[in-house]
Amino acid sequence: MRKRIFTAVAVTLLVAGGAVAQVSGTAHDLSGQGTNPTNEVCVFCHTPHGASPSVPLWNHTLSTQAYTEYTSPTMDSTSVGPLQGGTGVSNLCLSCHDGSVALSSLVNNPPTGDPGIGVMGAVNANLGTDLSNDHPVNIIYDEAVDAELVARATVLLTLDLFGAGANELQCASCHDPHNDSNNPFLVISNAGSALCTTCHIK
Ligand code: HEC
Ligand code: HEC
Ligand code: HEC
Ligand code: HEC
Repeated sequence: MRKRIFTAVAVTLLVAGGAVAQVSGTAHDLSGQGTNPTNEVCVFCHTPHGASPSVPLWNHTLSTQAYTEYTSPTMDSTSVGPLQGGTGVSNLCLSCHDGSVALSSLVNNPPTGDPGIGVMGAVNANLGTDLSNDHPVNIIYDEAVDAELVARATVLLTLDLFGAGANELQCASCHDPHNDSNNPFLVISNAGSALCTTCHIK
C-alpha cells in the first residue's frame, strides 16, 4: 500500500514536469556539450541582438548546400522557392540537420566562446542534402490545388503554416523544436496518423 502511494506521487510529479514544454533536457539542449561547453540553452538557435536572419532572432550559421527536393507526378503544390540559400523555417532546421554546419557555428557566441561542437554525426536525424525521400517542405499549402487537402483555415487551428500569408508548409508545421512531449518533437501526437490527417483527407 505504501509503495502504491509512493508510485502515485512519483507519477503525478512526472506528469507535472513533463507537461511544461521546454527545450531543456531534449535533444535540442546542447548545453554542456563540446570542448568548451556553455550552460546556455537557447544560444544555439537564438540571439537577442544582431540576429541573422532577423526572424526568429536566429543565431545558427545557415547552410549553403544545394538540396535534391521531393518531386512526384501527382504533386500539385507550388514551391516557395529553392531551399538552397533560403532563409525560411526549413532552412533554419537544415542548418544543423543537413550535417554540413558545425552544431556550435553561431552568429554570436556565448560569453564563454565557441562551445566547440562539430557537425551532426551519421545519425538518423542527419537528413543530408538528398531530401527527395522526405515529406515535401517549403511548399505553398493551398487546398484549391488538391481536393484531398483539408481547408487551410481548419489546418491552422492545429498547426502552423509560415510566411506572410500563413500558407507555407515547413519543417516546423509538423515539428515544434521546443517541445519533445510528442517525440520526435511533433506538434501533435501522430497516434492513428492524426498528424497526417490534419492536412490530408485520406
Ligand atoms: C534547436 C533550435 C532551437 C532552440 C534550441 C530554441 N529554439 Fe526557439 N525557435 C527555433 C525555430 C526553428 C523557430 C521558428 C519555428 C517555430 O516557430 O517553431 C523558433 C521560434 C522561437 C520563438 C518564436 C515563435 C514561437 O514559437 O513562439 C520564440 C519566442 C523562441 N523560439 C524562443 C526560444 C527560447 C526562449 C529558447 C530557449 C529556451 C529557444 N527558443 C530554443 C529553434 C530553436
Ligand atoms: C542547433 C542545431 C539544430 C537545429 C537548428 C535544429 N536541430 Fe533538430 N536536432 C539537433 C540535434 C543535435 C539533434 C540530436 C541528433 C542526434 O540524434 O544525435 C536533433 C534532433 C532532432 C529530432 C529527433 C529527435 C529524436 O528524439 O529523435 C528532430 C525531429 C528534430 N531535431 C527536428 C528539428 C526541426 C524540425 C528543426 C527546425 C524547426 C530542428 N530540429 C532544428 C540539432 C538541431
Ligand atoms: C509532414 C510532416 C513533417 C514534415 C514537413 C517534416 N517532418 Fe520530420 N518527422 C515527421 C514525423 C511524423 C516523424 C516521425 C517519423 C517516425 O517516427 O517514423 C519525423 C521524424 C523526423 C526526424 C527523426 C528522424 C529519425 O529517424 O530519428 C527528424 C530529425 C526530422 N523529422 C526532421 C525534420 C526536418 C529537418 C524537416 C524539414 C526539412 C522535417 N522533419 C519535416 C513529420 C514531418
Ligand atoms: C501541414 C500539412 C500536412 C501534414 C501534417 C502532412 N502533409 Fe503530406 N502533404 C501536404 C501537402 C500540402 C502536400 C503536397 C500535396 C500536393 O501538392 O499534391 C503533401 C504531400 C504528401 C505526399 C506526396 C503526395 C504526392 O502527390 O506525391 C504524401 C505521400 C504525404 N504528403 C503523406 C503524408 C503523411 C504520411 C503525413 C503524416 C506523417 C503527412 N503527409 C502530413 C501537407 C501535409
